[in-house]
Amino acid sequence: MSPTAAPLNALKSRLSSWRQDPGAAEDRQQVLRVEAEETLRVSFTVNGRPAEVDVAPRVTLSDALRDHLGLTGTHIGCEHGVCGMCTVIVDGDAARACLLLACQLEGAEIMTVEGLGKPDDLHPLQESFSRHHALQCGFCTPGMLMSAYDLLDHEPGVAQDELPEKMSGVLCRCTGYRHIMDAVSDVAQQNPEGVPAPRNCGTGQLLPRSSTGGPGSSAEDELQSRGPAEITLPSSQPTVTVSVEEHVQATPEEIWEVLQDTDRVARCLPGAELVEDFGNDRYLGRIRVALGPVKLSFVGDIHVTERDEQNRSIRAVAQAEDAAGGSVQAGVALAAKPHEGGSLLSADAELFMVGKIAQMGRSLAGDVSADMFAQFTQALDATARGEEPTQAQAPSAVAMFTRLMSQRAQSLVDRLRRR
Ligand code: FES
Ligand code: FES
Repeated sequence: MSPTAAPLNALKSRLSSWRQDPGAAEDRQQVLRVEAEETLRVSFTVNGRPAEVDVAPRVTLSDALRDHLGLTGTHIGCEHGVCGMCTVIVDGDAARACLLLACQLEGAEIMTVEGLGKPDDLHPLQESFSRHHALQCGFCTPGMLMSAYDLLDHEPGVAQDELPEKMSGVLCRCTGYRHIMDAVSDVAQQNPEGVPAPRNCGTGQLLPRSSTGGPGSSAEDELQSRGPAEITLPSSQPTVTVSVEEHVQATPEEIWEVLQDTDRVARCLPGAELVEDFGNDRYLGRIRVALGPVKLSFVGDIHVTERDEQNRSIRAVAQAEDAAGGSVQAGVALAAKPHEGGSLLSADAELFMVGKIAQMGRSLAGDVSADMFAQFTQALDATARGEEPTQAQAPSAVAMFTRLMSQRAQSLVDRLRRR
């Protein structure tokens, strides 16, 4: 069976069970009503072990395996069903994990490359790949192994000259096909009665890695009850550096008064809110970012590390995760200096991003962050001048595009005027 046919068949059998069982149909209605930024709990079996993940409806099986269960053996290449890197076994058939949503798989039995063998007890396919030098960089190897396992499971003793076509669902960019075919053929010939059973489908529960969902999610409850976390910023280069300086009407004293109140400061940041005050200037906060179809909700810790009344400045560090396993860590410095009857308000931030938000690209992530900080300084100015309550809007694609275009047009006009 081709790898793309398997998920369709799995989906068809689930739809048919929903049709036959009214209770299951009610469950389906519930699943279909989950909002984009909410999470739902999905239970399935992975490599013989029960596992539960809290995922947003859009999270693919490949992301759930890698980001929520830590099973990074399933590789991701094209993410649209072409390369076969993400091949896993779902309910006994090969499937593209990038084409399945995790929420489709309630009750499914999944096998990944981790289930095939252990370092000290390799599966015969893994041994054969090693013996035949059937890998160079190894990126396609998990997909090749799982595809070969599925082939030999369904067609034991398959002829060697059929292998190039039968194995064509997985692409190797290192052109190691001849060795890969030799390795698979070797196992096929030595096991004409069928592929040997996997060696690492054991018992015990697969525990999810920490993940955070939307408001009221169990992950958020866990963060609230576990108290403040220590935040350590990476020593590597930040993904994005933001430096915004704005002349505002409020005086440094007025700005300082707002900076003393972290809840009011949070409400000036677009899409942000405080969830819990742990005391000692440590907080739990949430921030939502929506850019077209990409809607992310981050929950995490904030620690105000320095308050300098003389210089009207504060420093803070933060770290937060979203339900899809992405994370952001940030170091932020805010300061207000006297300037022409008002203040020169500066916001400097270093942001370290992982996951979908980082995939937006440095330039777009930089534009979004700079736009958010520019909105933040305006909201802070308004709040400091008594225009409360101020709740800045969560970043949206259209609003941001309009603002960026008008900012760029304005800077072009300014440049032309200066000539
Ligand atoms: S990553 Fe799934 S087919 Fe390419
Ligand atoms: S060994 Fe590198 S992609 Fe196949």
